[in-house]
Order: sequence, then C-alpha cells, then structure tokens
Amino acid sequence: MADFVAIVLAAGKGTRMKSSLPKVLHKVGGKPMVRHVLNAARAAGAVRNILVVGFGGDRVREEVGLDAEYALQAEQLGTGHAVLETRDLLADYNGTVMVLCGDTPLLEDKMLAKLFHEHLTTGASATVLTALMPDPTGYGRVIRDQQGQVVKIVEQKDATPDELAVREINTGIYCFESKALFAALGGITCDNAQGEYYLTDVIGKLVAGDAKVWAVIADDHQQTMGINSRAQMAEAEGILRKRKLVRLMDSGVTIMDPQSTFIDDEVEIAPDTVIYPFTWLEGRTTIGTGTVVGPNVRFSDTVIGENVTVHFTYAHECRVGNNVTVGPYVHLRPGTVLADGVKIGNFVEVKNTNVGNGSKIPHLSYVGDADMGARVNIGSGTITVNYDGTKKHRTIIEDDAFIGCNTNLVAPVTVGRGAYVAAGSTITKNVPPEALGVARARQNNIADWTKKPKG
Ligand code: UD1
Ligand code: CA
Repeated sequence: MADFVAIVLAAGKGTRMKSSLPKVLHKVGGKPMVRHVLNAARAAGAVRNILVVGFGGDRVREEVGLDAEYALQAEQLGTGHAVLETRDLLADYNGTVMVLCGDTPLLEDKMLAKLFHEHLTTGASATVLTALMPDPTGYGRVIRDQQGQVVKIVEQKDATPDELAVREINTGIYCFESKALFAALGGITCDNAQGEYYLTDVIGKLVAGDAKVWAVIADDHQQTMGINSRAQMAEAEGILRKRKLVRLMDSGVTIMDPQSTFIDDEVEIAPDTVIYPFTWLEGRTTIGTGTVVGPNVRFSDTVIGENVTVHFTYAHECRVGNNVTVGPYVHLRPGTVLADGVKIGNFVEVKNTNVGNGSKIPHLSYVGDADMGARVNIGSGTITVNYDGTKKHRTIIEDDAFIGCNTNLVAPVTVGRGAYVAAGSTITKNVPPEALGVARARQNNIADWTKKPKG
C-alpha cells in the first residue's frame, strides 16, 4: 500500500492559551495535543512524522522524543514558511506529504486515511480537507469557481465580504505531492494582511500553474477543531471523554454516570466491569473483568485484577490482584502490590509494600516499605515505623503472623512466620516464628485511687 510522510506544524506559541507551555503540549484526554495528532497520522499510514518546532521547541522534543523527526522554525513567519523548513529533510523524497497542525487533538485516523486515499485516486497535486462550518469565522475560506473547482484559499483577514460569506473552510489539513509543494512554496510572498508566508497561497499558485487541486469535505467537522484557548480545550476534553466512554460501553463496560466519569484514552477495561460515579482513571491503568470501581475512586497508572471491589480510594502506580477488596478511604501509594484475596479497609495507607495472598489490613493503619506474607492479619492502628529521619527501612511480616492493635513495628524488623505481637507493642527486635512479642509497660492498678485525699 502507498504511504505518506506527515508534517505537523507546531512552532507557534499559542498566544491565546496565556501559558509558558507551548500550546501543543497542553494535555487533553491525558495526552499532549500533539501526541493525538502524531498518533492519528501514524495510524492513517504515515511512515515518517516530521514535527516543525519553534516556540518551546526543546520542551516539545523532550516530550515527543523519538516519535518524530524535527525541523526548526526559529522565527514564526507563517505556515508556508514552517513547511519550507522541512525541505532539507525531504530533499530526496518524491511522494505524498500530509500537512497537519499540532493543535487538532480530535482527529481520527480514518478521516486522514480517506483524505489520503482520495488524493491518490484523483491524482491531484494538492488535496485540501475542507469543512462546512455553521460559523466559519476565523478560518480560511475555500473559494471555488462556477464549475465547483477550487481556485484558492483566502484568509479571514484578507477576505472580501463575498468571500467571508462562504461557509466552506480550510481545516488546515492537506495532502501534497512533495515536489509540487516545494516548487510552489518557493514562489509565495508575505504580501497580505498578516505579513506572513501563508501555506494556503500554495493552492492558488498550483491552480494558476494548471496543476490539479482537489478538495474533500470532512463528514465530521468536529474532528478538525483547532484549539486556540483553554475554553476550546475544555470543549475538546469533553468530546474526547465522551468518545472513550462510548467505546468502553460498546465493549461491555457499565458506566453508571458518564457525566461524572473521567477515563483517559489509554486506560483499558475488560467487559462486565461496573464503574460507579465520580471515578477518575488515568494514564496506563488497566482493570480486569467483574471488577466494581467507585464511587469516588482515582487510579493513576494502576493495574487492577478481576472481581475486585474498590470504593473511595486513591491508588497510583500500584498492582492489585484478583478478588481483592479495597476501601472506603484508602490511599495506595506507588510500589504497592496486593496479591489475590487481600482486604484493605477503612482509613489505611499502604506504600511500597507487598501484601501476600489473603492478608488483611482492615482499619486505621500505615504500612510502608514492608513485605507481608500470606494470611497475615494486621490489627487496627498498626504503624510501620519505616523512617529514622535519614533512611527508610523495611519491615518483614511472614506468613500467618498476627499483629495486635496499635502496634509500632520499628524497622528494620521481622515478625516470623505464625508469630503474634501483643496489642500496643512497640516492636524493635525481631519476633521469632510462632513466638509472642510483647513490648509494652505492664498495667498497675492503684486501689481506691478515688478515695485518697487530693491536694
Ligand atoms: C490556518 C490556515 C487557515 C485554516 C486554519 C485551520 C494559514 C495561513 N491559514 O490559520 O486557512 O482555516 O489554519 O485551523 O495556513 N505555525 C507554525 N509556524 C508559523 C505559524 C503557524 O508552526 O509560523 C503552526 C501553529 O503552531 C499551528 C498551525 O501552524 O499549529 C496553524 O497556525 P495558526 O496561526 O493557528 O493558523 P490559523 O490562523 O488558525
Ligand atoms: Ca489555528
């Protein structure tokens, strides 16, 4: 199959964002906008992605890394000038280039593939993706002749009243034959209202030179929405969010209240999972079948197994096995691994800890930097004293150990297999297997205390 090279324009500052971050790095659906565009281009068949960077270029390179090649546009002299900066990278290339903008995160690969396909079948030198906008204000207008052939594109600021009345707009997405594109770009000027080198002028130049120029009208203009402000970003976020939720519901996930459910694009959820309201699932989170999530759950980069029940919980960078129950009011911090059948209950914080099969931390505990075996029971109010002010130390609690309520386990320390710790102990020495560790002051009752004379 034929393929193409994508050029993604991302050198502009995005003044209306009022941000020190380059516009294309602002996130929607959990990903920088430019990533959505690069992914769509790649999925539509781009064999190379060339990103034109300028304002904040180093940050863009840092974020996108090896997923693109880079051309630098040091001064933002217009979209035509931006494309010209890729000339060296494409010197030996003689195929189709697709030009896109980095600020259109709603694009889907199917639409781009259709544009490319039509460009190839018509044999045009340039094919513009256009859209019929209910309100075309701000966009370049597509001007056709009486036969319906595209003649040129006119920017809003340069348009006559008649041209302004045209509803068909330039989406800013095009396919070009590379040689024709660079030849025409060499001839454009900045003689216009904005004093910029417009890429759109290439269309008029090609038509004047008798090259074939074609236009494809997008059937879904929403996808071509360019983001210029934070208000538009919120709008895009809503659209992406809805798309993801619909995909999940179509694949067998119950989402009780889409209005209060926020699921990033990359999150994977198996069928027959139920998502209660007020749930945020972020980053590379995956959830197994039969699991019930929420209400009030936030997971980031967390892997959850099958038949798990979790509510009122925040978990980040954790792994949770099957048949686990978590919540309410639980914080699972990075490095926490819960094996199958674990129970984590009310007001518990777990950090960088392995909790073995069937173990329980049911109430009011902090367990950090610990390795717990299987079937361990942690009494209410137990704390691992893992930090000496300089270093963190590990606590080891072996299989079948039983930790009484309100215990301090001063790490490094080991509670052996099957051992008991008496409630209220501060354990500073290892407890051997099967032993009882007691480390608390003995109780002393003073008789008739209330009858003694006071003062
Ligand atoms: C552009 C089109 C307009 C179209 C609209 C669609 C031109 C002249 N106009 O207008 O016809 O309707 O997109 O959204 O092309 N950029 C650079 N370097 C520059 C200038 C821009 O890399 O020197 C990048 C920007 O970062 C942005 C993209 O090109 O990603 C579009 O630039 P923008 O200034 O937003 O163009 P529009 O005025 O929206
Ligand atoms: Ca724009």
